[in-house]
Amino acid sequence: MRGYFVYYLKILWAICLIGQSLASAIKITRDDAYKKLLALRSLPFEDCGEYYRVNYLNIDSCTKVPCSMARNSSVKVTVLFDDNGSGVTFLKHEVRWVFTYVKSNAAITPDPCDGDHNCLLNVNDGKSYWANIYVNKTLPLMSGTMLWEAKNAKNQNLICFEVPVVITA
Ligand SMILES: *[C@@H]1O[C@H](CO)[C@@H](O)[C@H](O)[C@H]1NC(C)=O
Ligand SMILES: *[C@@H]1O[C@H](CO)[C@@H](O)[C@H](O)[C@H]1NC(C)=O
Ligand SMILES: *[C@@H]1O[C@H](CO)[C@@H](O)[C@H](O)[C@H]1NC(C)=O
Repeated sequence: MRGYFVYYLKILWAICLIGQSLASAIKITRDDAYKKLLALRSLPFEDCGEYYRVNYLNIDSCTKVPCSMARNSSVKVTVLFDDNGSGVTFLKHEVRWVFTYVKSNAAITPDPCDGDHNCLLNVNDGKSYWANIYVNKTLPLMSGTMLWEAKNAKNQNLICFEVPVVITA
């Protein structure tokens, strides 16, 4: 009788283990599928960060790279990233236009993004932020790169990505 009971417990335990690993496998597959979907819809970009991974980038009125950016306009940028569950609540942006001979800082609003502007949102397991970048009217009419870095209050670089752009009149 007791032998049977132990046997029964062992089977129950085995079922539990299988169930658990199945559940985590399904979760991993679901996360992967979600990230693949995001990647498919994202503009192509170069992730130059080591801390938080960027999963998705959207730039208003830009569907392919290089992104056309009209001088003296303000363009909304939306980024989905993985904060590894750390619950980040503050981002200080440091964005540069990089051309062959010219580098210049871009004006971003709101900056910093500290939760007062609803610029940091929770999405699924990750986070997203949006910000407006001003395309200065003094920028050269040529192609280059927009290099975006976002830091925490300790000035640690959390996010970094770059995307090819072309400045238009
Ligand atoms: C966050 O996760 C990514 C990928 O899983 C990893 O490469 C990175 O080092 C992690 N960052 C931190 C700060 O833990
Ligand atoms: C720049 O944009 C602002 C606001 O849209 C407008 O008032 C201004 O005339 C523009 N300047 C130039 C030089 O186009
Ligand atoms: C635009 O660029 C000029 C000179 O390059 C600079 O003086 C000015 O502050 C910039 N404007 C903004 C809003 O960043």
